[in-house]
Amino acid sequence: MRVLEPLNLRDRVAPNRVLFGPHETNLGFGRGISERHLAYYERRAAGGAGLVVCEEASVHDSDWPYERCPLAQECGPGWTAFASRVQALGSLAIAAIGHTGGQGSSAYSQLPLWAPSGIPEVNTREMPKSMEIEDIDAVVRGFGDAAERAMRSGLDGVEVNAGQNSLIRQFLSGLTNVRDDDYGSDRMRFAREVLHAVRVGAGNGIVGLRLSCDELAPWAGIVPEAAADIAEALSPWIDYLVVVRGGIFSVGATRPDGHDEPGFNLDLVGAIRASVNERVAVFGQGSIVDIGQAEWAIGDGRCDGVEMTRAQIADAAMMNKVANGQADQIRPCILCNQTCKVRDARNPIISCVVDPRSGHELDDADPEPSGASSSSEPTGADVMIIGGGVAGLECARVAAGRGHRVEIRERSSELGGMVVTAAQGAGRARLLHFVEWLAGECERLNVNIKLGIDVGIDAIATAESAGCSIVFCTGGRRGDATYDVAAGSTVLSADEFLAGGRDQLRTAPVAASESADPVVIWDPIGGPIAVSIAEQVAHSEAASVTIVTPDLIVGTLLSRSGDLAPANVRLAGAGVHVVKNAILREVRAGGVIVEDRFTGETNELPCGLVIDAGPMLPNDELWNAVGVRHGRAGDNVAPRTVYEAVLEARRVALAIDAEGTL
Ligand SMILES: Cc1cc2nc3c(=O)[nH]c(=O)nc-3n(C[C@H](O)[C@H](O)[C@H](O)COP(=O)(O)O)c2cc1C
Ligand code: SF4
Repeated sequence: MRVLEPLNLRDRVAPNRVLFGPHETNLGFGRGISERHLAYYERRAAGGAGLVVCEEASVHDSDWPYERCPLAQECGPGWTAFASRVQALGSLAIAAIGHTGGQGSSAYSQLPLWAPSGIPEVNTREMPKSMEIEDIDAVVRGFGDAAERAMRSGLDGVEVNAGQNSLIRQFLSGLTNVRDDDYGSDRMRFAREVLHAVRVGAGNGIVGLRLSCDELAPWAGIVPEAAADIAEALSPWIDYLVVVRGGIFSVGATRPDGHDEPGFNLDLVGAIRASVNERVAVFGQGSIVDIGQAEWAIGDGRCDGVEMTRAQIADAAMMNKVANGQADQIRPCILCNQTCKVRDARNPIISCVVDPRSGHELDDADPEPSGASSSSEPTGADVMIIGGGVAGLECARVAAGRGHRVEIRERSSELGGMVVTAAQGAGRARLLHFVEWLAGECERLNVNIKLGIDVGIDAIATAESAGCSIVFCTGGRRGDATYDVAAGSTVLSADEFLAGGRDQLRTAPVAASESADPVVIWDPIGGPIAVSIAEQVAHSEAASVTIVTPDLIVGTLLSRSGDLAPANVRLAGAGVHVVKNAILREVRAGGVIVEDRFTGETNELPCGLVIDAGPMLPNDELWNAVGVRHGRAGDNVAPRTVYEAVLEARRVALAIDAEGTL
């Protein structure tokens, strides 16, 4: 396979063509590289990544973009440990270095932001200081010193960031550089000086460049044609180029969620590769999460290698599986951005919905099956798992992999539970892919799956007397209404609607509108479900749709995954009405009463069907009757997200000992 071929970079060789790219992890303590970092990267190197790039370090103390962002001056010992551990496992070890300029933060440094020109940053609105010549010289020196320190620490090279969050891109772009000196009349001058300093500092080490080749702001930003010239002009100093997109108006475009097609950047990558010196290896980037697509991109000549970052957050052993002919066993990244995106108000550390051990390598035991396969005879305990949703499947997968004899009993006729019902819109196919992966792994590990079986107290008593461990993964149920419901009115919970209650759109009582019955979606959570249902109904044109939210904006929690603004744009485009700051008080035949959260004023909205996207409750009747002696996971404990379901399920599975004691 092309992805498995070695790649020459200067006088070093990457064992394969897949790069684990730089990203914020929040794994640091202070501004150095921590043991948590080392365990995180070591796992990816052990899993076969060709190049592992460490989290970007600021090259100068004028840059402190987020609390735990490394600072190159403090990274020496950490980089040394990173290099030795990653290289011992056969991967190339690269340090990312950069400066985020006006896109940084003054919250930690209490200093003005440095930028090419005094143009307020789009997202923070903070006015930066226009850099003086001494400031420019200091940052250029900082890049050179950081490169030198990286090589002294034993690294194979450095990667310079001129991507979506970078001072170098701010100098290259007409959006942010309106200087009237040489750095403005020649916008490439700063980048050339930086790369020259880095080349000198790195000696014969590898120098990579991450370059935004499309700021998606053609009126003044970097456009692909100009990027090709920039890449070619900077190529004498570099050994590899990672083609990315994004700028001040489109920071999220570098690593969008599943609303953008996997591999969305590959045309741009191909165009840039055609115009740079062929001595420079070009890496394709952008939601490449399937090894087949990576293979195609290299084979088609779009690039020499691929960056697969989230793919290897989701499955650290991805490249080993590819090399061993087990690509079908790769745990898929579902492009949700829900826990690998760490810049949010909670300041979380990185993790992954489908592999919650990511980022927690030092805390969580390794849940991966210890080489068990269909040919291994289970020698452990008997385990009965009630419920075949994501929690039940993950629990079964891990328990079977540890040698237990595992049976899943699922009430319905299919696996996947709430995920299969609730996964909608752009993310549906990938979520279903994850369920299929879980089910496939369970099958491979000989889990006995019984569908259409309703477990009751008697079955539990029988299993108990046979010494079986029992795990409750029975999910959640509809939450209680927090409003009055008059007779003759129709309310469906989100899952009821998605499970087939859509037919209600045609049968609900005729309301004020002459065309179709207006649908009101009550969304006290602000997550993805209400938004995706609203989009679906609006696009089906079966009815007009209104979302009622207590918040100031629809989908507040989508800010964590980066989908908040895009979701609101999509809703507006689909013609969804929004009623903000409002609480649903009453559902009547033909209408709902909503109350303004601040003024107390009430209003009636026409409505034929209410869809309640509010919180669910645990489906814990059986647990309360007999479960307390056993294990439980996910929504059965408290209905939350796929992340908690996977995390708790594997913890329960890991806790089952050979005798079946939990
Ligand atoms: C948690 C996270 C944080 C990231 N932060 C940065 C960043 O600060 N600068 C940058 O250039 N790219 C950043 N990236 C982008 C990655 O380097 C990579 O280009 C991106 O994830 C796309 O690759 P993928 O689609 O294979 O994940 C980040 C990615 C992730 C997952
Ligand atoms: S959290 Fe979601 S997007 Fe991020 S790596 Fe995991 S599966 Fe992929």
